[in-house]
Amino acid sequence: MDKNITFTIIKPSAVEDGFIGPILAKINEAGFRIAALKFTHLTEKDAQQFYAVHSERPFFNSLVSFMTSGPIVVATLEKENAVEEFRKLIGATNPKDAAEGTIRKLYGRDMEANAVHGSDSPENAAIESDFFFSKRERF
Ligand code: RTP
Ligand code: MG
Repeated sequence: MDKNITFTIIKPSAVEDGFIGPILAKINEAGFRIAALKFTHLTEKDAQQFYAVHSERPFFNSLVSFMTSGPIVVATLEKENAVEEFRKLIGATNPKDAAEGTIRKLYGRDMEANAVHGSDSPENAAIESDFFFSKRERF
């Protein structure tokens, strides 16, 4: 398993708020290499599949509706110990609880519209990256 890869989504709220540039700049400044990147828009089926682990959670339907509400940016990122390093950079799930200077604190609206996704393990980073990118699209 590649421990140096993580996967991120710039969520619809952050795209709508004009934060693609600032978020990519933070990612760059933190020393991540962008290995794959694209602008896309999830279908309901895509979002249900991507968040399948949360299908029994009370917030699932709202989350699927939010994640399909507008375009998103998806990216595969490379850095030593990428998953852990990236979760430090984005901060706590709820932007209110996120540390100063983190992406969610700076660019999140609320618990659901929290600006970005970050993989929770190297295994899931690989699964999530494969969900959006073919081998040919990764550099
Ligand atoms: P993510 O997967 O997006 O990186 O976020 P996370 O690990 O910090 O949070 P997770 O528990 O995996 O939840 C996935 C996403 O669901 C939304 N959420 N809403 N309303 C709520 O109580 C609630 N809880 C979670 C957020 O968009 C969260 O990022
Ligand atoms: Mg998660």
